[in-house]
Amino acid sequence: MIILSIETSCDETAVSLLQFEVQGSDITVTILGNTLFSQVDIHREYGGVFPMLAKREHGKNLVPLTIQCLKEADLYQKKLSQNITDLDPNSLNEINKILERENNLSELFCKEITTLEKPTIDAIAVTHGPGLEPALWVGVSFAKALSKLWGVPLIPTNHMEGHIAVALLEEKTDEKTTSFSIKKVAYPALALLISGGHTELVLITEEGKYQIVGQTRDDALGEAFDKVARILGLPYPGGPEISKLADADRIHRPNGENSQYKLPRPMIYSKDFDFSFSGIKTAVLYMVQKISLLTPDIQMQIARQFEDAVTEVIISKTKKCLERTGAKTLILGGGVVANTRIRKSFEELVQVLPDIQLQIPRISHTTDNAIMIGVAGYHRYISGIRGDSSTLRAEGCLKLSNTTASQKLA
Ligand code: KG4
Ligand code: ZN
Repeated sequence: MIILSIETSCDETAVSLLQFEVQGSDITVTILGNTLFSQVDIHREYGGVFPMLAKREHGKNLVPLTIQCLKEADLYQKKLSQNITDLDPNSLNEINKILERENNLSELFCKEITTLEKPTIDAIAVTHGPGLEPALWVGVSFAKALSKLWGVPLIPTNHMEGHIAVALLEEKTDEKTTSFSIKKVAYPALALLISGGHTELVLITEEGKYQIVGQTRDDALGEAFDKVARILGLPYPGGPEISKLADADRIHRPNGENSQYKLPRPMIYSKDFDFSFSGIKTAVLYMVQKISLLTPDIQMQIARQFEDAVTEVIISKTKKCLERTGAKTLILGGGVVANTRIRKSFEELVQVLPDIQLQIPRISHTTDNAIMIGVAGYHRYISGIRGDSSTLRAEGCLKLSNTTASQKLA
């Protein structure tokens, strides 16, 4: 089957086309098309994501990205008649209604999408939460309109489930195309999700069954990286900037552990599995306020100390949580997993825990993308979940929900 997937929860507009083939118990995922437009350059001057600007950009980008993706997948074909008169008026009315609040998108949709032949896709997976609601709505409305136009089912997909699902893709080296197999998970599994909006430890007792066992009480880890970067005068998004400086400091100062800029390890000894990152950010702020001249050398040292401190906290909490839950698999997900120090530390952790299977997504799959939504959408589709285009909504605070039988819509 082929799934078209759409992601617009934050400042990345992304569309992909994935093919799923089942052979016995093996599932092969082939990326037929994958497009992404990152809005970071647009949001940089605001020092963070500006929701209404994100919404406007998604509206402009979704149609061109979908067309590019269809072309990559060789599924792009214009209608011969070049007009929309062969669409039944009722469907057209419904589509206009779905897109009535999306000016840019509505215009591009009528001009470009309605003049295409229906591509051979089987379903449309779309992120309906969590994330920035105005941004999510653009993707949801677009997916609903496509579903109506092409008569294919909708799969409402949870963004965080996407971060988990993509970590299970393992590259098939024997294929010419970009193909992956989906790793079989030994349950119970524990997922550490670290992104710009979330920091959670999630226990997965079986496929699709989630229990949040720990979470941040204040800032998400990615948010802390971004805020500390800002305090240090570095551009948005701060995670990659901090990471670059910290790596450089490790080369310049192999013994930098004895730095005068040491930072606290918040909640490292707490008995629960919760986190707190706002205190460490304030500690950096106070530290910087006392420095008369913030030189590039000091920036480097503080970036490294911050990265070391938060890495130690997440490693320690995750290790305790693995022991307590008896998890057999550790899954990492979210944009902060792009961090080389954090990746390496988890790889070292599982070397002393040989019974734990570690699943880390490849770096290009860590930050937001549509492949993760397609893979999570596939699992939902297989469990019978379908969205109703008249009731599907964007839900900014959507929680990871259990896809148990009682929740299936179809
Ligand atoms: O998952 P994601 O793309 O978006 C959300 O769902 O939030 O995560 C974005 C977050 C940002 O806070 C960004 O600074 C952080 O991931 N990030 C990093 C790195 N690359 C991205 N944090 C630390 N080190 C990195 N290399
Ligand atoms: Zn994300």
